[in-house]
Amino acid sequence: TDTTDIKKGLAGVVADVTAISKVNPETNSLLYRGYPVQELAATQPFEAVAHLLWTGELPDAVALADLRATEREHRALADEVRAVIDLVPLDAHPMDEVRTAVSLLGAQDLAGSGSVLAASGSAEDNLRRSIRLFAALPAIVAYGQRRRRGQEMVAPRDDLDYAANFLWMTFGEEADDLVVDAFNRSMILYAEHSFNASTFTARVIASTLSDLYSAVVGAVGALKGPLHGGANEAVLHVFDEIGEAANVSPWLDDALENKRKIMGFGHRVYKRGDSRVPTMKAALDTLIEHYERPDVAELYDALESEFVARKGIYPNLDYPSGPAYALMGFDTLTFTPLFVAARVTGWTAHVMEQFGANALIRPLSEYVGPAERHVEGYVPDAADV
Ligand code: CMC
Repeated sequence: TDTTDIKKGLAGVVADVTAISKVNPETNSLLYRGYPVQELAATQPFEAVAHLLWTGELPDAVALADLRATEREHRALADEVRAVIDLVPLDAHPMDEVRTAVSLLGAQDLAGSGSVLAASGSAEDNLRRSIRLFAALPAIVAYGQRRRRGQEMVAPRDDLDYAANFLWMTFGEEADDLVVDAFNRSMILYAEHSFNASTFTARVIASTLSDLYSAVVGAVGALKGPLHGGANEAVLHVFDEIGEAANVSPWLDDALENKRKIMGFGHRVYKRGDSRVPTMKAALDTLIEHYERPDVAELYDALESEFVARKGIYPNLDYPSGPAYALMGFDTLTFTPLFVAARVTGWTAHVMEQFGANALIRPLSEYVGPAERHVEGYVPDAADV
């Protein structure tokens, strides 16, 4: 093999077809099943976008009511899941808690399902499993934040839709409509993004005909990293480090000198700006006004304009979503679990698509280790020769 053929990081490699979303970096557009994500964020509840990703179409009123009814049925945190979360050390990262909880949900749901040959399940099984995970994750994420704060669990509310109920279970009080709307938008913007690292991880796992839950557990692991989903959390650490707008220049001098990656900037696919940023930035602006925090806007703008001017690298979705989640009252450590609750819709849509037209994902590597050598003193016996 010629090393020049190697596509490090699979950059630029088209690994398969997908009908779920289309990213066009030239026009800065992102379509979910053909619909621009901005239009979906402005008009749809997250439940409808989940339905779109899974089935290919936005739901009519009956289908939306059905999905919402099923989602409500699976909202409450099961005692066993709560017990397993409680076993995770309080100072472990909440992504480890989420990964563990999803793993238990899988084991419970698949109990009695027999040999590995049946693991991948039918299309109906997998849609049901996807809805179950989508419905169960908010309680897992909300309870995680509450227990770290030493607060009691809050039971779900049947009269609230997905986004409002998520905020209710996290904070134990009803959120303002404006906050619910910003949160709903963030979920929609985070829901799906073609063959990103965590989605590709899920597809690799699905391609072995393993089960959907195992694929999601793997995807949670991939999303945790700061080069991927962990960046929304990392943005807030950066904001905390900088403190205020006046400190941006010296902080950036130092960070760039030390070759630090500035979290929340840059993207493998978008090189001229992330299509999701303007929508999330508009939501952040309404939150800044609502919570009367012009200081957040000043720091945000100062870091963005100075970094773009110096490096020509633009913000990605994690840049506005990190401070938006902070203003809503989420702890910094909860941000990436929120990304899980959203992206689980995209992951599961991709797992179902992979099962529907499967080929085992198994690339090649070029060996660059030591040439063949032998264990000292080894004498081959007749059977080995
Ligand atoms: N800060 C400083 N320099 C950067 C950054 C950044 N955030 N992003 C890219 N660069 C530089 C990089 O150092 C390299 O410079 P040079 O050519 O001089 O070595 C050049 O730009 C190309 O970067 P790369 O890392 O080779 O590009 P990539 O396509 O592998 O990286 C990325 C994409 C997202 C990993 C990277 O931009 C990054 O590390 N960003 C910070 C983490 C982050 O915000 N991740 C969120 C990604 S989007 C949403 C999500 O998945 O959650």
